[in-house]
Amino acid sequence: MKSSAPSSDTVRVRAAGKVNLALRSGPRRPDGYHSLATVFQSVSIYDEVEVRWSEPGDFRVSVEGEQAELVPVGAANLAVKAARLLARHSGDPGLGAEIVIRKAIPVTGGMAGGSADAAGTLVGCAALWNLGLEPGRLRELGARLGADVPFCISGGTALGTGRGDQVAPVLSRGTYHWVLALSEGELSTPAVFGEFDATPRARTPLAAPPELLNALVCGDPRALGAALVNDLQPAALSLRPELATLIELGRNLGALGVIVSGSGPTIAMLAADERAAMGLAVDLTAQGACRAVKRVHGPVAGTRLLS
Ligand code: C5P
Repeated sequence: MKSSAPSSDTVRVRAAGKVNLALRSGPRRPDGYHSLATVFQSVSIYDEVEVRWSEPGDFRVSVEGEQAELVPVGAANLAVKAARLLARHSGDPGLGAEIVIRKAIPVTGGMAGGSADAAGTLVGCAALWNLGLEPGRLRELGARLGADVPFCISGGTALGTGRGDQVAPVLSRGTYHWVLALSEGELSTPAVFGEFDATPRARTPLAAPPELLNALVCGDPRALGAALVNDLQPAALSLRPELATLIELGRNLGALGVIVSGSGPTIAMLAADERAAMGLAVDLTAQGACRAVKRVHGPVAGTRLLS
């Protein structure tokens, strides 16, 4: 039984992955999280989330596409948690949803794939159930599901503070062209943060580097490539030493900057323009050094209703 008037029977949403252009981390906080200053950029690799009405109180998910077998489909799935949270928030016991996720964003790859699916589900179910919620309210709910979810809802280029969940838009000119080197195997975010905690390091300022923000304002890929920074990179490389070879390879093939994306293991390589990205992708593929090579651009929207 449908207790709210649906806008349609099926809603499809496209949800983008992200790279962190800068990721500065403080020490672990009492709540287990780390204070971050991070600059996110949404890039054109998308999961599709389709939501349909289901019986009241019934929330289920199925996953198709790349690496689908790696995604849990029970109550632990972040999209199921998102739909349940939104239904609870609405106070309407008549809500239920059947969710289909078509994956392209690497699973546990450091590109916020799970958070994108949660963001897509929140936006999709809010439309399906005709809840009329403001994006700001959806971002607040998203923050309860994961630190990257608020950014994944809005996308573009943004500064993330707090746990990364307090987002504010960052001025960015132009389009940046990336080549992503996708690795075999996953890298757990808590494990990478654990390794980060265990490694002695120099204190870095908990702020986005001014030269990086300036590069974005100027639309200067060369300056952006030089300013990319990720405090989690040494921890990711210590857990997966072979990634260092991939980073070196990207630099030798002419990338303007090469960085571990988030907690990894995806490696993001910035190219000067679309043509340079095509060349880099071909050369990297020919080396056979990673599971897959993808060409993307950013910034793009975080979530977009398709129907
Ligand atoms: O928020 P989310 O569930 O995506 O985070 C996954 C894990 O990453 C957390 O449980 C925590 O171990 C780590 N994390 C962190 N500090 C952050 C964000 C994530 O320690 N700011």
